[in-house]
Amino acid sequence: MEPKQAQDRINYLSRELTRHNQLYYALDAPVISDQSFDALLKELIDLETRFPEFKQPDSPSQRVGGEITRKFIVVAHKRPMQSLDNTYSPEELRDFDRRVREALGQAAPYVCEPKIDGVAISLHYKNGLLQQAITRGNGLEGDEVTANVKTIKSIPLRLTGDNLPEDLEVRGEIFMPKSVFEQLNHETRKTLLDEGLDEEQIQDRLWKNPRNTASGTLKLQDSALVAKRKLEAFIYYVIGDERLGRTHFERIQKAKSWGFRVPEAVSFCQNLEDVLKEIEVWKEKRAHLSYDIDGMVVKVDNIAFQEELGSTAKAPRWAIAFKYAAEQAITSLKEIYFQVGRTGAVTPVAQLKPVQLAGTTVKRASLHNADFIAALDLRLGDSVWIEKGGDIIPKVVSVDLNQRPKQAEAFVFPTHCPACATPLVRETGEAVFFCPNQTGCAPQKLGRLVHFVSKKAMDIDTLGEKTLHLFLEKGLVSTASDLYGLEAAMLHGLEGFKEKSIHNILAGIEASKKQPFHRVLFALGIRHVGETVAKKLAKAFPTIDALRAADETALVAVEDIGAVIAQSIRLFFAQDGNLRELQRLRNFGLCFLAKLEEQALAPDAPLVNQVAVVSGVFSQVSRPQLTAYLEYLGAKVTGSVTGKTNLLVAGENMGPAKRQKAEKIGVRILSEKEFIQTYGLPS
Ligand code: IVH
Repeated sequence: MEPKQAQDRINYLSRELTRHNQLYYALDAPVISDQSFDALLKELIDLETRFPEFKQPDSPSQRVGGEITRKFIVVAHKRPMQSLDNTYSPEELRDFDRRVREALGQAAPYVCEPKIDGVAISLHYKNGLLQQAITRGNGLEGDEVTANVKTIKSIPLRLTGDNLPEDLEVRGEIFMPKSVFEQLNHETRKTLLDEGLDEEQIQDRLWKNPRNTASGTLKLQDSALVAKRKLEAFIYYVIGDERLGRTHFERIQKAKSWGFRVPEAVSFCQNLEDVLKEIEVWKEKRAHLSYDIDGMVVKVDNIAFQEELGSTAKAPRWAIAFKYAAEQAITSLKEIYFQVGRTGAVTPVAQLKPVQLAGTTVKRASLHNADFIAALDLRLGDSVWIEKGGDIIPKVVSVDLNQRPKQAEAFVFPTHCPACATPLVRETGEAVFFCPNQTGCAPQKLGRLVHFVSKKAMDIDTLGEKTLHLFLEKGLVSTASDLYGLEAAMLHGLEGFKEKSIHNILAGIEASKKQPFHRVLFALGIRHVGETVAKKLAKAFPTIDALRAADETALVAVEDIGAVIAQSIRLFFAQDGNLRELQRLRNFGLCFLAKLEEQALAPDAPLVNQVAVVSGVFSQVSRPQLTAYLEYLGAKVTGSVTGKTNLLVAGENMGPAKRQKAEKIGVRILSEKEFIQTYGLPS
């Protein structure tokens, strides 16, 4: 193709694709099929690759991303990006209206529009071309995410229309449509299932809601990935002088004519009564929208009035967000069943007649404990109200007593473990019933293993709940230390286990031996010792023996460790079974010694300021243990012998070159035996 011809074609394709984008994304009125669109886009990309000199700065091909940004530049906002005051009550809305009227000395018409649940963005255009996109950040400065934003098809790269302002800033919300979110989670689930993860692990890794996902997506470093996530945007704020329009309503219409997508309905309301009606209308409508809204924004329409009202330090006085309370639904309680957790806690779960709530079907809800059931006086067959708080696990909030079936009897909490029939115990002052059969109760054993391998503990992601269940059932393992004794021959012949998956499982287990002490401590599943407590303990007591020796006074001296945690730790070390398990884990080479960054130094830190190298194979201690111990003694451990090295701890079979080099530059060399004689062994 001749260059001139190519240039004409590139210009034509760019224009056409921009027009179709707008028809599709801003006006929701496409005139060509997706395939035809893709064909035009492909032709444009091909031509631009061959004739890059003709690529336009606002080419629609930028929408497919590909730019890798290393990190985002922080940019100051020209004007702060404020947030909005919000309320859940019509009464407070009336107060807002009163304040507005008093300050202005007259009534002010409002506009009402959906409050989109996404991520705020500020967009800068120069002579109609998109220059810069900045996130809200802390309100004063945000991240420059232009390359990522350019992939969002409802944001025009070039504005259309006449009389465009030379400089323009608009603000709006980037969001992920519900269907895109569901599709993304559907695909993520498939991938994780293929990797052998179980339901709990999958739940852990799935995206939590469209807002978090949109926010995470905008921060991705690879804009090609952003393009795949199909984000969208609405513009709800046009900044500038009166030439842009004297009312918010006018400005939004203008933004629409320039090619922006604007909120579905920006309704004009003469007074507060109209506003309240509009809020009611949208309360119903919102469930059917293709994106999440968490309320309605009420704005004084007249820009001069807005300026007169001004802002507080945090939010404008001319706008307020009305938020809808969490959605509730009523359904009937079919059954209550009991789950036994890894600590033996028995949790009641409500089995419900499936019901739609905030866009998903709910079949189960947590009932917390026996007191919760008693307080609600729950009975089978009851009609119960359920609610989704912050879009996670739904909860039962109340019972409709008017609909209670006549024969419904009060619910009696079981006296024996539903899994192993051991009598349940309840400690004084505790709401939870426990099964005390720690070593024999199957769900507890499984729960402990699942916890042990979980992401924040030993992170053995090649072992899912299903696999662990099978290993327990086949008697291959009983406790965590048994995992380290597994061999390939023991797994051959298990249904569904091929050479490769066996290899992966064993490699995952082996790799976990490198996990630091605080993770091992967390993985042990000592009651009340969560991730943060484990870190604090590892810092205060850098070896497992120091922790074991600590009495209650020493334990509670640590920040955030109270009597309950201290007692639980003491109880753990008082049980022979736990001590045997610890010894086995230690023999398998797990790390029971804190690394420098997580521990206090040894009291006299004899190797402080020294650089040490560990090389070869050791018989009485594992390499990670030895490294951690050297750090505990104050040394910095590096990988190779250099002029800075002070000490080489030489195990068996170490490379002769390394030894020669160390000898040549006069590094102190200690064998394993000599080292232990001098410094002792990590306990
Ligand atoms: S107006 C200076 N309108 O809600 C006033 N904000 O909770 C600018 N939001 O930071 C905000 N939909 O990210 C406005 N129709 C809408 C909105 C909206 C969503 C977000 C926005 C703001 C946050 C405050």
